[in-house]
This record gives sequence, structure tokens and C-alpha cells, in this order.
Amino acid sequence: MKQILGLDLGTSALKGLLFDEGGNLLASADSAYPLDTPQAGYSEQNPNHWQKAAEIVMTKLLDLRPDMKDALVGISFSGQMHSLVLLDDANQVIRPAILWNDVRTTKECQEIMATFGDQLLAITKNVALEGFTLPKIRWVQKNEPANWEKVAHVMLPKDYLAFWLTGQYSMDYSDAAGTLLLDVEEKVWSAAILKQFDIDEAVLPTLHESAGLVGKIVPELQLKFGFTQEVAIFAGGADNACAALGAGIIKEGLAMASIGTSGVFLSYEADETVDYQGKLHLFNHSVKDKLYGMGVTLAAGNSLSWFRDTFAPEEDFATLLADVGTVAAGSDGLLFTPYIVGERTPYSDAKIRGSFIGIDTHHRLRHFGRAVLEGITFSLKDSQQIMADTTGRHFKQIVSVGGGAKNPDWLQMQADIFDAEILTLTTEQGPGMGAAMLAAIGAGLFPDAESCAEVFVHYDKHIMPDPQQVAKYAKIYEIYQDVYPQTAPICHRLLTEE
Ligand code: XUL
Repeated sequence: MKQILGLDLGTSALKGLLFDEGGNLLASADSAYPLDTPQAGYSEQNPNHWQKAAEIVMTKLLDLRPDMKDALVGISFSGQMHSLVLLDDANQVIRPAILWNDVRTTKECQEIMATFGDQLLAITKNVALEGFTLPKIRWVQKNEPANWEKVAHVMLPKDYLAFWLTGQYSMDYSDAAGTLLLDVEEKVWSAAILKQFDIDEAVLPTLHESAGLVGKIVPELQLKFGFTQEVAIFAGGADNACAALGAGIIKEGLAMASIGTSGVFLSYEADETVDYQGKLHLFNHSVKDKLYGMGVTLAAGNSLSWFRDTFAPEEDFATLLADVGTVAAGSDGLLFTPYIVGERTPYSDAKIRGSFIGIDTHHRLRHFGRAVLEGITFSLKDSQQIMADTTGRHFKQIVSVGGGAKNPDWLQMQADIFDAEILTLTTEQGPGMGAAMLAAIGAGLFPDAESCAEVFVHYDKHIMPDPQQVAKYAKIYEIYQDVYPQTAPICHRLLTEE
């Protein structure tokens, strides 16, 4: 059987997943790299570390499955979005990559929105946020003009791996959409944006479909890894787009709630004229000519880890959450908002902070635990609500992935808070599986994403909402929505007093 490899370039590690064309996982391997925070709010990585990690992962996989040398036909990627990689004309990294979770660019975002906001929204369907690439480019232009002078190539993290493997400069549409340089409808680099912000189109890579061929692996690397046939390299996609593909979010009516460090509520958008006015991100999908809408809760799993580390450091998550099911919906009057590192959706506010509201003497650790899970889920519901308000859609099925899919009580909470049937995946492999699926589609093993998903994506649990709990949560959610406007002025004042 033919084999395909998905390389997922994450924020803390690179993970490789080797599949056969029957959708069976044959081997996986990973390799971690450091994240540098040279100043508060800065977040950087050295692209050479990603390349080293990819080399280590491929070597480990070849050790585990020596038959990969003969059977591998394609490699594709999933990557952390938005992070800015700059190369000079000798293809050397000019400065460390500025990552998606780096928030140094508030001023640049304000400048972009004040001078070009309406046009930017019309062309890219998004507003400028600290995480996105264009504000990072502006920051380099202004603060490191000597570095900007040297720039010959701009790319995103996964594209650096494609460049290493093929010698070609490439980017797929799903990742290009997150740069704020792409005309999302026309699928071309926007001449108007490039002109406005003084960016030469020559520094930008060639655009591809996610399953589009970038090139063949260069002969030195083919020899080094011992591949007996030419291996094709396909462009790949943004991690969220790949996670969506791997969760089967490729048809109308399906959404995904994903809980990692941050949380994402994402929906497939069948209507290409959908317009969220920047309230949600709207990006090109890894599926040809499709879009997805998405809202981001900055501290989802992070809120839970913070809670455990602070209040019960000796307990693992399973023990910590073991009796949240004994607490009634609404945590007996305790509400949590997960704004512990600021928020992105629905409030783009770097200065908001989290809160527990309604604490009384009978509340115990289990009440706080349940309130944290509910607060994270309410925050994702905010994105679901924007989708409902904008398009009138009601999702019947939502696929839960990540931390939220691991706890049965939390799954039921999601069904009741989202008022939808919740599905889990049989074997959850994350965005790397979407990347491998792109390689499989690119290599012609499947004619399209739908037929590939039929073989790769299987659902396990189906959790139905309980109408009584749905009604109860609908009332509590209304109260939750009041917390942000009431606490924002207090949090903003507290921060200025620090
Ligand atoms: C999406 C975003 C994050 C990164 C994480 O806009 O910034 O989800 O893609 O890798």
C-alpha cells in the first residue's frame, strides 16, 4: 500500500504522522523546540529548529517503518498560522520568526485599521489583529528597517519546510488568508494591500491549493533519507484548516469545537458571500474553493491548566474533574470567564482579565472546576452565536476535538450549551492527519476531500443535548454575556494601576 506523511509544525513541537492509503496510522513521531520570549508579549522561534525537528521526525519514522523508503509517495504539512518568516537573497533566516501568539503589534494594528480598515475588511474579510502577519511585517518595517531591507522572501512556518524539501517558495490559500495580504475572493495577492503597505510582490511565494504540488523532494534529501522513488511535496494548510479537514468539517451544517491551549469554534461555510464583518475570522479552507469561519478563545485549555496549577497542582486533570458531574449545570451560581490572557473572540481586548463571579461559602473545588469548563464552553458559544446571528444557521452536529473530547461530563456540557449533538473522533490525530489527507489527495489517491474523509475520518461517540439542561444553560449564558461589559472597565483600570 502507498504511504503518505503529514508533518504538523506546531508551536511547541513538530509531529509526523505516517498513514497508508487505507487511512491506517502506521507510525508517529515528534520532536520539540524552544519558544523564546525575549520581552513580555514577544514570542519567537528559530526556523532552523523547525527544519531540524522535521529531519529528526522523518528519521525516527524511517526507523519505525523502513518500508517508508519504498512506499512513501507524498508529504504535506499543517502549520501554526500567521507566524512571520523572513529570508534574505541567500535564503538565510534574517531574524527569528515572530509567532502568531506574539502581541507586540497593537500600534501597528491600530494604524492599519485607521488608514486602511474598510478596504482591508473588504479584501481580506478580516480585521487586523496582533496575531496576524501583516501587522508583524509593519512592525519589522518600522522597528528593524535594516532587516526589512534584506528581505527577499516572506513565508509562513510550514512553507519553510516545503522550501527545505523542494527549493520552491510556496504558500497555500488557507495560510495565505491569515497573512492579511490575500484577496480572499479572487485568491491572489492583493495589489492594493501590497501597495498601501509598501510590500514588493516579488518577496511573496507562489500560491497553491492546499493539496497542490509544490515540487519533488530535492535529490540530496531523497538520497539522505534513502527514498527509492521521487516523493512529491504538497503545499499543506493552516493548522485550523487541517484540523477541520481531519475532523470531517467539509460539509454544510458541521462545526468543530477544539480545545487546545487556545480554543476554536469553527464552521464550514458553504456560502462564499458570508460576511462576518470581522467579528469572526473568515479564511480559505484547505478544501478547494471553500471557506471556514472561526472564533478563537485565547485561553481555553490554558484556563484549565492555570486553574489546576494554581489550586490543585498535585492532581491530574482526570482526578481534578472526577466529580464535576455531581455539580448541577450552572455550578450552583458560580460563573467563570476565561479571559486570563485577554481575549480575541468576540471581544478583541488584550486588557480584559478573567473572573469568578458569585463565589459563596458552599462552593468547593468541584464547583470551581465545573465553572471553568462551563466558562470556556460559553466563550466558544459566543462564536457559535455570531454565526447564528449572521447566517441564521443552527448546527445539528458539532465535532469536539482536543481536551474537551476527553471528559464525558464536559462533552455533555458542550451538547447542552451548544444545543447540538456532539460527535467525537475514533482516533484523534489532530491537524497532522489533515496534512496527510492533503498529501493523499495531492498524490491522486483520492479524487477529492469528501472521498478521502470517508476513508480517514470516523466518528465514535454521539452525545445528545438534554432539553432541560439546554433551557437552563440558555438562561445562564445570558448572564455570562453580561460579565464582559460589566468587568471590562474594572479590568482596564486594574491594569493601569499595576
Ligand atoms: C488562528 C491562530 C492559532 C494558530 C495556532 O488564528 O492564531 O490557532 O493557528 O497555531
